[in-house]
Amino acid sequence: MGERRDDSQKGSESEDTMAMRSLSRSPDETHRLGMAVSRHLKPGDLVVLVGELGSGKSVFIRGLARGMGVKRKVQSPTFILIRDYPRHNFCHIDAYRLKGWEELVDLGVEEYLYGDRVCAIEWGDKVEEALPPDYLEIRITVLPPDEMSREIILVPHGRWRDRWSSIERELSH
Ligand SMILES: Nc1ncnc2c1ncn2[C@@H]1O[C@H](COP(=O)(O)OP(=O)(O)OP(=O)(O)O)[C@@H](O)[C@H]1O
Ligand SMILES: [Mg+2]
Repeated sequence: MGERRDDSQKGSESEDTMAMRSLSRSPDETHRLGMAVSRHLKPGDLVVLVGELGSGKSVFIRGLARGMGVKRKVQSPTFILIRDYPRHNFCHIDAYRLKGWEELVDLGVEEYLYGDRVCAIEWGDKVEEALPPDYLEIRITVLPPDEMSREIILVPHGRWRDRWSSIERELSH
């Protein structure tokens, strides 16, 4: 087993020191960042998006999916909760309507989270207890007063930290 994060580390400074901050000024820029991140994804990877309604989580995931070869428009799965793209080994989960992680488990989503699919999950903070320890967190914050600006912070968790320095170097170019 690699490094396992214990609860006392959650959101602590040691995790945040590896965070990469980026500023997006348009949906296009957010989409491009999603595409750039997709180049570093491997089967079984998990990307967790956190941010208020309309902050751009779906825009980012569309970039991610496009980077993984998904050609058709990625619809938000808010009403169907999970949208699977088996040909591209990708799945998109939206936890917004979930009451908690028990519901996620009841729906069988763990099979995806712990399987070979690359998974992107919106509102991942609502189901934090169900998440595997290794994931890339994407925190998006709308920056007032400019409606188009977003701060996007990438935080590696668990084994993502071992890969982080090279990924960060490439992403910041
Ligand atoms: N810099 C930006 N990055 C991303 N989206 C932006 C940006 N500026 C403006 N927008 C707009 O913000 C909206 C983001 O919508 P999106 O559906 O991606 O949000 P979301 O976080 O998935 O919301 P929800 O929680 O409802 O699923 C879009 O209408 C997009 O055009
Ligand atoms: Mg969304």
